[in-house]
Amino acid sequence: MRPLLWIASALAVARAEDGLDGWLRYARLRDCHTGGQLDDFATSIVALNATEGAPLHTAAHELQVGIQGILGLELDVSDSVTDKDTSSIIVATAQAYEDEFGSLPEAVDLIEDGFYLSNKGDDTVIIGSNERGALYGAFEYLSMLAQGNFDEVAYSTNPDAPIRWANQWDNLWDNGTHGPVERGYGGVSIFYDGVGHVREDLSRVPMLGRLLASIRVNGIVINNVNADPTILSERNWDGVEEIANLFRPWGVRIGMSLNFASPQTFGGLDSFDPLDDQVIDWWQGISDEMYERVPDFAGYLVKANSEGQPGPLTYNRTLADGANMFAKTIAPHGGIVMFRAFVYNHLADWTDWHADRANAAVEFFAELDGQFDDNVVVQIKYGPIDFQVREPVSPLFSTLRETAMAIELQVTQEYLGQQCHLVYLPPLWQTILDFDLRVDGQESRTRDVLNGNVFGKKLGGYTAVTNVGMDPTWLGSHLSMSNLYAFGRLAWDPTLDSGAILDDWTRLTFGLGRSVRETIRAMSLESWPAYENYTGNLGIQTLTDILYTHYGPNPASQDNNGWGQWTRADGDSIGMDRTVRNGTGNAGQYQPEVAARYEETETTPDDLMLWFHHVPYTFELHSGKTVIQHFYDAHYAGAETAATFPKRWETLRGRVDDERFEHELYRLTYQAGHSLVWRDAINEFYRNLSGIPDVHDRVRHHPWRIEAEDMTLDGYVPVDVEPAETASQYRAVVTNGTGTAATTLDFPDGTYNLAVNYYDVVGGNATYSVALDGKTVGTWQGDAEFRLGKFPSEFLDGHSAIRVTFEGVPIRRGDELVVTGVADGSEQAPLDYVSVLPLGVVD
Ligand code: GCU
Repeated sequence: MRPLLWIASALAVARAEDGLDGWLRYARLRDCHTGGQLDDFATSIVALNATEGAPLHTAAHELQVGIQGILGLELDVSDSVTDKDTSSIIVATAQAYEDEFGSLPEAVDLIEDGFYLSNKGDDTVIIGSNERGALYGAFEYLSMLAQGNFDEVAYSTNPDAPIRWANQWDNLWDNGTHGPVERGYGGVSIFYDGVGHVREDLSRVPMLGRLLASIRVNGIVINNVNADPTILSERNWDGVEEIANLFRPWGVRIGMSLNFASPQTFGGLDSFDPLDDQVIDWWQGISDEMYERVPDFAGYLVKANSEGQPGPLTYNRTLADGANMFAKTIAPHGGIVMFRAFVYNHLADWTDWHADRANAAVEFFAELDGQFDDNVVVQIKYGPIDFQVREPVSPLFSTLRETAMAIELQVTQEYLGQQCHLVYLPPLWQTILDFDLRVDGQESRTRDVLNGNVFGKKLGGYTAVTNVGMDPTWLGSHLSMSNLYAFGRLAWDPTLDSGAILDDWTRLTFGLGRSVRETIRAMSLESWPAYENYTGNLGIQTLTDILYTHYGPNPASQDNNGWGQWTRADGDSIGMDRTVRNGTGNAGQYQPEVAARYEETETTPDDLMLWFHHVPYTFELHSGKTVIQHFYDAHYAGAETAATFPKRWETLRGRVDDERFEHELYRLTYQAGHSLVWRDAINEFYRNLSGIPDVHDRVRHHPWRIEAEDMTLDGYVPVDVEPAETASQYRAVVTNGTGTAATTLDFPDGTYNLAVNYYDVVGGNATYSVALDGKTVGTWQGDAEFRLGKFPSEFLDGHSAIRVTFEGVPIRRGDELVVTGVADGSEQAPLDYVSVLPLGVVD
């Protein structure tokens, strides 16, 4: 047996639970979970023909690290079998296994990237169709062990689709507008230094490669779709090569976003016309250099003629001409072009009742079907608009019969709470993946379009916009990592149950305790419905500020601009009329059975009613409620659910390590407060617009609130807030130095939760304190922008509005309550209101 140069003792060093290992912690199992399993456990790992730097070598190393961590066993590793009598874990490609043993086990039935795993008796065999598959099998085995699962198994598993890619929207330049990672909330880029170059320190790259390989993601696009041509600068080539080298041992191939105008803006040509020979030669040169440096380069990602990005339409060439130009330069090397279907006019005419951004993808791409080269894959966002809290599936999936397609999901919670709100996304994704598009009247689920079964395409699959950063939590929040984990699992097998995926993730991330698993599962599965409830209902989209941060509430921002995320809300009615009969015709872009369903309110499900129909606020839904009452009720229900999250998390104190416990407690508490901001802003907005009161009399009725502007102010002055509905009674108070807001409480004696709503903007850390009869109840700082990672706001608005709560405060009638704020920088210690809440009341 030839020992390879792997040194077990350097491995598995205990580290703080900072999240860096994600779900690959390999925490030691307790004896009660291993129960006798260790006695005849394998004594060595054989990685047949492993070569350093290749995935099989990684697999053996990972098995060694993992088994030492999980079971405390130190196994030797070698690359050949010498003593057939000792029990080993054999990890190999199918070819190497067959060469060594003469034949494969019967159940081996593999396609590219697939693997076979068997652990019958004391022999464990992991066979990959290729080295990547073998690595996936090793991770699968480790995942079983880490979950205390010693079941005997023998099965083959294969990917549902070949493309399983992450798309990092990382910028080379941190120019402050979108940050180092566009829509990133987990710190600066792991790839770029923010001043135009690949970073010197790329130590996070293999760590990410490890996480991605463990969920069977086989590709990653390493720069923003809004691509900066200087990624192709002389200096960056070495860096790009280095990134590829660091991912390669994990079987992760890199891809790159291209800027269509590069030949002109960067290459010095006078054109970027895709049919111009000079332009084609220029790109051929780039592709040739790429493959020389990165022989396994996966391909390009192109965003063209979208949101101001250049593209072939400038030269009156088709989008297919543009895509094919790139495709031809990399086809000989086996590369592919992911060409985004996110093409639309962001300067649309909102006064035109028939205009509709949701129509754009089919309008642009339907006529190009059949014109794309074989190595072009059209990458389509899950819905027709843009990662909203609820969208119908994009009709393009049932339109392109001759074109390879991939779906674009978003682990990045751009419109879904930006990783400050717990929102577990797989249930949303599965509404899309499971949807039956009824192509030619036959069952045709979106997932079966993606795996090629519906239209017979070999290429296809899954991409997710991811936004990892240098933060040790990767995404900014530990709980958000379940979305990344689930993306990979679903891209491999979209029929998996989202709850079961979550159980695996929780065991791996937080250990095997039942209460931890059950609590996280219940909260996570309730989180998307809750978020939908308190943000945007009935298919009206996430009613966020689409012109600024995409985070907090601002329903007015949807309409009267060219971006096309319209709600068409007026004093009487709301919703986009997308019918063929009278509206934008969008319903007609679906296959006939689906189109007929969406054409009529009678057959449109409530959760998409306002996506497809413009109806009065008094329109009665299938549920029996009116639209407006549904809005009110849903917003109250959603915020009520979010209010339970910190309480339920609290029950895990001591069961989850302190570091991660406190981190999430802060965020879940924040979410509970921010869901109230959402609730009140949206309800107030539509109460104003419709003039229709809440039948339960909650909206505008807050008996436990005291407005800051109504208190006795010293050093504080009232200001209007914009949008008005993001302040209780539309106003707040600010100070330039120290301000106090005082009031005499007039509530019955008792114990209350004392909440203060204020605004936490960028530009300073104001300090606050609240006192009762001269005794301090609590102090805090306006430092959420440093703690949360979401896109911050400079203004008093729905993004900066935030709540702090002091629980169980004894209060007597006549107590003098004083809130003191001390401004810092441009943060003027803004205050909105104080709520004196009887225990159990959420308001
Ligand atoms: C959204 C998002 C942008 C992104 C774009 C895209 O509009 O806000 O940041 O560039 O989608 O997907 O290309």
